[in-house]
Amino acid sequence: MSTDGSITWRQLWGETSALVGDRHEARWLCEVASASVDGDEFLARLDEAATVRMVSHLDEMIARCARGEPLQYVLGEWSFRHVTLAVDQRVLIPRPETELVAEAALVKAAATGPTRVVADLGTGSGAIGLALAHELPRDGTTVWITDMSADALDVARANLAGIGPAAVNVRVAHGSWFAALPPEVRLDVVVANPPYVAEGSPDLADDVRAWEPHGALFAGPDGLDAIRAIVVGAPDRLVRGGWLVLEIGADQGAAVAELLQTAGFADVEIRRDLAGRDRIAVGRST
Ligand SMILES: C[S@@+](CC[C@H](N)C(=O)[O-])C[C@H]1O[C@@H](n2cnc3c(N)ncnc32)[C@H](O)[C@@H]1O
Repeated sequence: MSTDGSITWRQLWGETSALVGDRHEARWLCEVASASVDGDEFLARLDEAATVRMVSHLDEMIARCARGEPLQYVLGEWSFRHVTLAVDQRVLIPRPETELVAEAALVKAAATGPTRVVADLGTGSGAIGLALAHELPRDGTTVWITDMSADALDVARANLAGIGPAAVNVRVAHGSWFAALPPEVRLDVVVANPPYVAEGSPDLADDVRAWEPHGALFAGPDGLDAIRAIVVGAPDRLVRGGWLVLEIGADQGAAVAELLQTAGFADVEIRRDLAGRDRIAVGRST
């Protein structure tokens, strides 16, 4: 789009909608390009003229969308529960279904007290761990966020500031699953959305394969390598009665339930989403 310095955000929103084919996406792009702090501020500025720099930022974002880049990376931020997270190609885009995994862990952690130590293993953008730190009581909560990817942890660290004062309860650790944590740390709740796609899976959407980090997606020939490692490592790190909460693949429920039972977990439960797909595995350490 070109501008002579007099095009308004209302006009740009309309033109962007035509180009990206979606009015909501167009509005989010315009909100970011106009540096509005939120949707209300953007609406209040609809009849203001955009600066040349803002229009060229918008042009650049539209071009990235046209190349197939996911909207979340183009925007550079995405919401997860009550937190807004910076996201880029170093991290998986936080998914709505993972909000339910965070909710399941939140319920277990909130029922533990007066203190609770939680770990979000493979935190990526920080989505689950930072949401938990934000929503759990400020007093008595410690949340470890870990990842094997140093790049992902840089993003998670940058997102720490976004949860305000609750950030003081968060510890960041680099490494593979439980090995990232200091040896003395014992946990009341372990939550993870690990990689769980089988290598070569035909079910993975092309845009996910093309844009999102493969270290966040693939987990061996059956997609269970990461889940196996976490399930086997968890009993030594969970307190007795502590909970393991895992996001799992749509057809992994039976296999993960067996892994949990074999590792000595009690109260094993596979929860399904509204579409009837296996989604969350839960087990209690004995
Ligand atoms: C599916 S992504 C989940 C990211 C984030 N928790 C979320 O829900 O949006 C899996 C994450 O696990 C990390 N990961 C992969 N292998 C790992 C390992 N051996 N130890 C720790 N983290 C690992 C990846 O770097 C990635 O950030």
